[in-house]
Amino acid sequence: MKALILSGGHGTRLRPLTYSQQKQLIPVANKPILFYAIEDVIEAGVKEIGIIVGPNKEQVIETVGSKDWNAKIEFIYQGEPKGLAHAILVAEEFLGNDKFVMYLGDNILKNGIVEHMEKFKALSPNSPNSLILLTEVENPQQFGVAELDKNGRVKRLVEKPRIPPSNYALVGIYFFEPVIIEACKNIKPSWRNELEITDAIQWLIENGYRVEASIVKGWWKDTGKPEDILEANRLVLDEVNHNVKGEIANSEVRGRVVINEDTIIRNSIVKGPCIIGEETTIENSYIGPYTSVGRGCRILSSEIEDSIVMDYAEIVNAGRIVDSLIGRNVKIMKSDSLPKSRRFVIGDTSQVWL
Ligand code: TTP
Repeated sequence: MKALILSGGHGTRLRPLTYSQQKQLIPVANKPILFYAIEDVIEAGVKEIGIIVGPNKEQVIETVGSKDWNAKIEFIYQGEPKGLAHAILVAEEFLGNDKFVMYLGDNILKNGIVEHMEKFKALSPNSPNSLILLTEVENPQQFGVAELDKNGRVKRLVEKPRIPPSNYALVGIYFFEPVIIEACKNIKPSWRNELEITDAIQWLIENGYRVEASIVKGWWKDTGKPEDILEANRLVLDEVNHNVKGEIANSEVRGRVVINEDTIIRNSIVKGPCIIGEETTIENSYIGPYTSVGRGCRILSSEIEDSIVMDYAEIVNAGRIVDSLIGRNVKIMKSDSLPKSRRFVIGDTSQVWL
């Protein structure tokens, strides 16, 4: 059993951040989103992982390579992102004749995939098939949706249906037998000129292959847009354990808070759940719930809540910042006006003078 994790794509909905960062490398609770996927497949017992890389391939290779993983990892260059089924075709040689789990590298799942892997393996010996992960949503009109028969087998997939056949949305995780490669070869590009995985799965169904569903319990997040990343950050921070390693001076630290080595919190209030990376300085400031601050940041005389502040950002006298994604090496400087709440999505290395 192999894994194919997709870390290509342009991430246009996350601009300006994705002008300089591949979207799957954006940190959620100070960990690149992609690492959650890698950890999930390793936890499910996969030893061979192919990672699809695209426009910013060097960044992905460097970031993944900075850690030791208990699996063999191969990078597969897709070139232009021409769809999820195209990614499978590009990986044909890596996949060989093995079964595999395909995991979109911008998805985060509370409970991992162990249970689904077991279900797929139990189904597998009889006939070529696939197992797709679904989750119940309130607004199926905004998702790819599966229609199931009375035995829970998948009958049909529809993209963003006006009249949804069910409330079961497709999660970006799929288990396949090698026949999916044949399916991908037999479909045509869609109206957006991509080879769609939904069309390939539909091809399986129409050609008599078994496609089963496995329902995800616990939260699932596709981090395509800024608000999704902030929501994923809240969900992950909700589960952190209190762990303070840095120095706290004349400050109040409340709730579940992670403060890493060589970080100094002075004359400040930090309210969990939140995480603060290494070598960061926080002075005369308030860090509110659901905030992740990266490494090497400086936050002086400012208030930050419900936000992600990436590595080496400097925020000085900036008033109150909420619901924001602040890129690496960003500088937000002194405000002469009365402090008020601000929301930002700021790309790397930007400077903002208030
Ligand atoms: P999407 O979110 O559909 O596409 P995108 O990442 O290009 O973002 P946007 O729509 O904002 O421009 O992609 C889902 C996941 O699959 C994501 O992790 C990127 C990845 N992907 C590839 O690796 N190759 C591809 O050809 C496509 C379309 C996506």
